[in-house]
Amino acid sequence: MSGMTQRRILVTAALPYANGAIHLGHMLEYVQTDIWARFQRAMGHEVWFAWADDAHGTPIMLHAQKRGITPEQLIEQMAGEHQRDFQDFGLSYDAFESTHSHANQALVELIWARLNDAGAVSQRTIAQYFDPNEGMFLPDRFIRGTCPKCHAPDQAGDSCDACGASYDPTDLIDPHSAVSGATPILKDTEHFFVSLEQFQDALSAWIHSGAVQTEVANKLKEWFGERLRDWDVTRDAPYFGFPIPGQTDKYFYVWLDAPVGYLASFQTICEREGLDFDEWMSPQTTTEMHHFIGKDIIYFHCLFWPAMLEGAGFRKPTGVHAHGFLTVNGAKMSKSRGTFIKARTWLDHINADALRYYFAAKLTPGLGDIDLSLDDFKARVDSDLVGKLVNIASRSAGFIHKLGNGRLSDALVDPALYAHFLAQKQPIIEDYENRNFAGVVRQVMALADEANQYVDQHKPWQMAKESGREDEVVAVCTQALNLFRLMITWLAPVIPSTADRAGEFLNAPMGDFHSPDTPLLDHSIEAFKPLMRRIEPVQLDQVIEASKDSLG
Ligand code: 2FM
Ligand code: ZN
Repeated sequence: MSGMTQRRILVTAALPYANGAIHLGHMLEYVQTDIWARFQRAMGHEVWFAWADDAHGTPIMLHAQKRGITPEQLIEQMAGEHQRDFQDFGLSYDAFESTHSHANQALVELIWARLNDAGAVSQRTIAQYFDPNEGMFLPDRFIRGTCPKCHAPDQAGDSCDACGASYDPTDLIDPHSAVSGATPILKDTEHFFVSLEQFQDALSAWIHSGAVQTEVANKLKEWFGERLRDWDVTRDAPYFGFPIPGQTDKYFYVWLDAPVGYLASFQTICEREGLDFDEWMSPQTTTEMHHFIGKDIIYFHCLFWPAMLEGAGFRKPTGVHAHGFLTVNGAKMSKSRGTFIKARTWLDHINADALRYYFAAKLTPGLGDIDLSLDDFKARVDSDLVGKLVNIASRSAGFIHKLGNGRLSDALVDPALYAHFLAQKQPIIEDYENRNFAGVVRQVMALADEANQYVDQHKPWQMAKESGREDEVVAVCTQALNLFRLMITWLAPVIPSTADRAGEFLNAPMGDFHSPDTPLLDHSIEAFKPLMRRIEPVQLDQVIEASKDSLG
């Protein structure tokens, strides 16, 4: 850390709805976030990964109703399930809260009061579809009908799956309620709106501050071209959410309190760790706040959220990093094909680090979709992790025990080769910083090839047969294991549990990125343990089979 300033970084991944199981599409984002957070910690920075379940909204209310439980019971149960999945995938979050918390409610009310003070809130009457059987207003996705553009039947109230058109629910032909089947009636209701227009300058400046990817900035500029419409933040009872203060039967829309959940979660970390929340949230702060999100929720994170923060007198995000969607075997995840894979199903059959590695190998800073091809997954894990990386350790460790009493030699035989590897640290760091994990993996694997060539050239297994060459064998294997240690350290953010086990075997806990600047010499190591196994085709078959069963 010499000479380097320590950055203070708050990291978030999008909050999963407390409404269903975590699947691999979620996991892609969480792994991306976690790798970046772990990388920043490995650089010696102060990092807090704040997270929560997104607990509110009509779908959660209806889901609980259907199961005959309260929404509170549903979100409680989901929180437990979600966190077991997260821990078993090695996600290193510092807090996991719920948006349905007192802390979040207090923060939402504070922000709401400030938005009101800033003159950013207006109120007007709108006409909305109402289900007379259920006695409830219907969110767009709970209204179905015939597309007004292409006449495809049974389309959602806001957009058509068949032709891609977006429209207002009132444009639908033959609308009906997806909850009861009733024909909805239009009913007047008084709603609160947050104005975005007054934040347009602040938003433009923020977008040009480098906080978003170029593709996202271009998209945002398009939206700016049209007039920014006021944001309807009200939902009528019955609703599961926070009541709007001073109102009867009016609730905040889930998307208003969801991102505030990032801050409420961070607040619990601040209390626990003695951090100054107000300083982190001040527009003058030197701390950083980074949100990782899917490309479908850019509007919320790059328009509504920064506007809310601006209006409330809080700092804005340092970065909003959007990623593409996950496809499996080249297509949208599908329950009938068995490619709608839950995190738990994966964990039941296959190692989490293997998937983390595969995701990393495909993750770039762009918004392109990412395909998990199961055959390619097996090929990459077998050839890269098992065949190249772990192989260096497994072919070297035995000789250290057999011929060197389990102790590494006291000098490197090829310090130039070690220095050559070390010279790759900076480019690897840059790729991590820029979320080009594919670049990281490519560089480390190129080094693994070189390390294997080194072992192949020196053939310790042959030297070992000749008496009197024991020291030479131990020296070559010491060199190889030190190269292995560099690579596993640099991949530790990607494959943390494998790296931890490698640290146990090397008898040198995985430290930060700089600890292997000094090689391990004259140092006892432990017996080698297999760090990663080849993927058996049957494991993949089992995942697909089990995913076919897990309908719903
Ligand atoms: O799209 C979703 O799954 C939302 N639950 C994400 C919320 S992110 C944040 F704003 F809370
Ligand atoms: Zn259509």
